[in-house]
Amino acid sequence: MRPSTRTHARLRAAATGACALLLATALGGCAAAEEEAAAPSIPAGTHDPAVWGEVYPDQYRTYLATADERPADKSAYKRGFDGGVMYDKLSEYPFMPLLFNGWGFGVEYNEPRGHYYMMIDQAEIDPSRVKAGGACLTCKSPYTQDLYEQDRGALFSASYTEAVEMLPSEHRTLGAACIDCHDSGSMALATRRWTVDAALTEVGLDPEGLSTEQQSLMVCGQCHCTYSVMKEDGASIDVDFPWEGSQWGAITVENIIERLLDDPARAEWTQAVTGQKLGFIRHPDIEFYTAGSPHAATGVVCADCHMLDTKTTGGTFSSHDLKSPLKMDMAPCQRCHPGSASELRAQVIEVQEANLGLLINAGYKTATVAKLIELANESLDPMAADVRPAYEKGARLYRQALYRVIFMGAENSVGFHNPAEGRRILIDAASYADDAEATMRELLASKGISVSAEVPLELRTYLDGRGEHDLGFVREHHIDDPTGQAQKTWPANLAALLQ
Ligand code: HEC
Ligand code: HEC
Ligand code: HEC
Ligand code: HEC
Repeated sequence: MRPSTRTHARLRAAATGACALLLATALGGCAAAEEEAAAPSIPAGTHDPAVWGEVYPDQYRTYLATADERPADKSAYKRGFDGGVMYDKLSEYPFMPLLFNGWGFGVEYNEPRGHYYMMIDQAEIDPSRVKAGGACLTCKSPYTQDLYEQDRGALFSASYTEAVEMLPSEHRTLGAACIDCHDSGSMALATRRWTVDAALTEVGLDPEGLSTEQQSLMVCGQCHCTYSVMKEDGASIDVDFPWEGSQWGAITVENIIERLLDDPARAEWTQAVTGQKLGFIRHPDIEFYTAGSPHAATGVVCADCHMLDTKTTGGTFSSHDLKSPLKMDMAPCQRCHPGSASELRAQVIEVQEANLGLLINAGYKTATVAKLIELANESLDPMAADVRPAYEKGARLYRQALYRVIFMGAENSVGFHNPAEGRRILIDAASYADDAEATMRELLASKGISVSAEVPLELRTYLDGRGEHDLGFVREHHIDDPTGQAQKTWPANLAALLQ
């Protein structure tokens, strides 16, 4: 049941086999023999996956398949590169461009596609998204650790284009490679990123002493995590996970928000609508999944659902074409669950629809507060003695709602990775947004400023004419609230958008 154990049993079996063979000829410690047995295959420090592929052709072949477009109509709500289309997240969730207006994420923000594209997508995206420069390579290129060790100052002060030029010319589009997840000598799962070692230490783990399960989670979590591009006088100086103060298994949204609120070095952008300086939360997959999900609690790891056990003539290997289990017709689930593919898919969709109802409603509530803060900025002096206390109280509540909405909008499973935790976070988000809205409305009313019941969100203003590519709203990408609540609560705004 526990794939990490299973995989490692498999790896161990291979090593023990080699060890037994060697023992027949040499009398040595088994550990030493294992090292000798594994050593000749792949030279340490080999970045080129093709070299690894000569020894492990099945893994390599499937690894290359992350370039393939995904079948359409398998996933309901998490469409990545389905039918060769790249989905515009800002059209899916139109409250996001309003909230993210003021920096790159509000200009172009796409659903993820296969690993093959991670560097390519960075090169192709609107330039406003790579303003942080060399820091952007941190969880994309397998060479970043090398650049960091050579000269971290040079890496972080480089513009994005300069940083890409530091990479070997033949590997400027190479994303996650074998060396990012495996030790070349033993093939054991391993990471080599300074960010990971620092973060693990902060949550009380020894990076060298992880359990098999933790190691398996962290090879994915090294990139599928949230991080801040740390700033000093406006310049990027490091990449750091906001994990300080958390414990492994409980890296909660509350702790992450506290770090963002505490530490001015984590303020990366100014929200245009409200004028607030803020941090950001990116794809918190490892944090969300490990925060008490039923699957994590029983030792299920990411690879169990995203890497299909595949039979060949020589035995079984793990498909390295990492993708959604829905796009594999639920086969990974069926290794542990007896249900039919359609029953299992229905379980996922049910969780996702409940999550979407909460996310979309919390998102529009938060956007409504943003517009009220904008109105207060335009019509009042927020620093005036009779305004400031209420204004700041409203803004504080607003940030609590906003960060939760960003967190749940950025985790990649539409709630499935941890259904109860997702529900909890989004209910809190809505409740903070309600309190913030009441506070701002009261303040505005007390100053004689009238506000309509449904605040106009001007969604098209933020959605259309985005960036150098002049991106606009794509109706077919929009995700209607499956619970119908949003359509009832914001009829005028949604009618104006969807007409
Ligand atoms: C080096 C960083 C890195 C590592 C390590 C990594 N990922 Fe990813 N992953 C990404 C990025 C970046 C994307 C989005 C790529 C894009 O859209 O350009 C992504 C996308 C994905 C997708 C979407 C694929 C699709 O076809 O839509 C899945 C699923 C996924 N990763 C799962 C995993 C799992 C499971 C692991 C661990 C075994 C893992 N990733 C390890 C960075 C990483
Ligand atoms: C119990 C199964 C399960 C486990 C364990 C799991 N996931 Fe997922 N994951 C899913 C499902 C289901 C989806 C939703 C896919 C869909 O709707 O097509 C998903 C979606 C994703 C996506 C987006 C895929 C896409 O096509 O864009 C990424 C990325 C991802 N998971 C990464 C991870 C990481 C990283 C871990 C470990 C920290 C993990 N998952 C653990 C089941 C799982
Ligand atoms: C994103 C991380 C990641 C990358 C990149 C990656 N692997 Fe793996 N690999 C894994 C994980 C996780 C497992 C264990 C799968 C499981 O638990 O079933 C694994 C297992 C393996 C195994 C053990 C046998 C098996 O198939 O389960 C081999 C061999 C292997 N990988 C080779 C490679 C090669 C060669 C490359 C590069 C072409 C590569 N891997 C790239 C994460 C990765
Ligand atoms: C490696 C084994 C394994 C895999 C793979 C796996 N599960 Fe599970 N699943 C479990 C275990 C163990 C539990 C916990 C059972 C319990 O606590 O009663 C569980 C619980 C669940 C639950 C109830 C708890 C919750 O999270 O809501 C659902 C629904 C579920 N799994 C669906 C799926 C789906 C869908 C997939 C594939 C995307 C999947 N599982 C993949 C082992 C697995």
